[in-house]
Order: sequence, then C-alpha cells, then structure tokens
Amino acid sequence: MTRPWTVTPLAPTLGARVEGVDLATAGPGELDALADLLYEYLVVALPDQNLTTERHVEIGHRFGEPLIHPFLEAVPEHPAILRVLKEPHERETFGGEFWHADITFIDPPSSVSILHGIEIPELGGDTLFASQFAAHDALSEPMQSMLEGLTAVHAYPDMAESPASVAVHPVVRQHPVSGRKAVFVNPAFSVRIPELTSEESRALLDYLFTHSCRPEFQARISWTPGQVLLWDNRAVQHYAVNDYHGVRRRLQRVTVMERPGFG
Ligand code: SIN
Repeated sequence: MTRPWTVTPLAPTLGARVEGVDLATAGPGELDALADLLYEYLVVALPDQNLTTERHVEIGHRFGEPLIHPFLEAVPEHPAILRVLKEPHERETFGGEFWHADITFIDPPSSVSILHGIEIPELGGDTLFASQFAAHDALSEPMQSMLEGLTAVHAYPDMAESPASVAVHPVVRQHPVSGRKAVFVNPAFSVRIPELTSEESRALLDYLFTHSCRPEFQARISWTPGQVLLWDNRAVQHYAVNDYHGVRRRLQRVTVMERPGFG
C-alpha cells in the first residue's frame, strides 16, 4: 500500500487502527486497499469519519450486498441502516449480551459489517472481537478433522416460522479471500449440529462457544464519536460490552451479505 496511512495493530490475533483514511472521499483504489487491510486484520477502526447515510451504504456495496434486515427496524433515512441504540433508561443493548457474528441465519451469510459511532459514552461501551481463525488454529488436529464433516443450523430467535430466519453452514468455513479456516458457530444463532445426537450437539456447541471467544483470541476496541469499525463476520465474533447504564450510546450499522465468488 503506497498511501500515507498509519496502520497500528491492536492485538496479536486481530484488529488494526488505520489513520489517514477519509471514507467520505475515498476512491475505488483506496477502498480496495482498505479491503486488503480488513482481510489481513479482520477488524479495522477508522477514527474521525464524517459519513452521510448514502455514503455509508455506498461503502457497503464494495464488500457485498447491503441487507435490509428482515426483523429489525431501519433508520428513517435508509432501509439498509440499522440504528444500534441504547437509551439512558434502557438496560439491554442492541443484539443482547451474546458473542455473535452478524446475520448467520441467512445463506450466504453476511460478509462485512460497517458500524459508525455517533453518540458515545465517556467511559464504557467498548466492543470485543475474537478471531475465529485463531480459534480454529488452536484446536487439536483430531478435533479439526472431526469438525470438517459437520454443519450447523443457524436460526433467528423466535422466528422459526419465517423462511428468512434459518440457514445451514459448515461448522468450519473457509474464507473466500484468504482461504483460512474459521470456526463458524456462535451462541446467538447456532442452534444444532444435525449430524449429531441432540446431547452431542449441545455439548459440542457449548464447547465451541467457550473455546472460540477465549481472551487469547480477542481485541477490545474503544469508541470515539465519528469512528467507523469494519469487521469480517466470516472471521470474527463480537460482543458489545453493556457497562454504561444511564448514558445514551448511538451508532449506525450497515451489514452486507457475501456475494458468491466475490469474497
Ligand atoms: C452489533 O452487534 O452489531 C453492535 C455492536 C456494538 O454495539 O458495539
């Protein structure tokens, strides 16, 4: 990359802060360079961005098909932008207190999420990420071999009747760009491994949920107003830390779906 950007790694397994990018004006070459950084670091943080809703969605198009969420309400300005909001009187965060990857209950699953921070607490409200490549690589070879033949059913909670709510994916999924293998189950949406008995399925999913988000595979990212985070849902899980009661936190998210053959 020849651009005058400063790239600061944030943890050994994933995450980088990239300074010097202006998403409002970045051309196709700069977005390609940003995509290369995203596929290398899995999560990239871009401080001090000024994004209109249209530009937010336009950047999404570089990474996949912007999703109109089948169950959650969008902001009035654009159907592909979700408001990630916790008001001072609320106790629960958007998405709940679960590790997850976004939109794994659709096939193909989401590729990338782009989250723009608007109102950010002085303290707290960080987002944790865990590398699912690191989680896969840390498994023993016999465990890796056993997982190769398995799939998992992913379902949106309480929406069993909707065809938009259930998908089946391999338990270990190969990344379409890097070719690396990731553990691809998460506690928010992965409900069953159909090749196993229900007891085996429950035990193995519980083990993988715990293993996949060990502190050794994590980076913790703090927010400032204007920061944009991009992450690759095929490679990481994330968790929004709910430690800022009584304060407003507002962000906006575009999530795009993987385009088969594109990456
Ligand atoms: C999300 O799950 O996409 C939201 C993450 C966050 O609020 O930090």
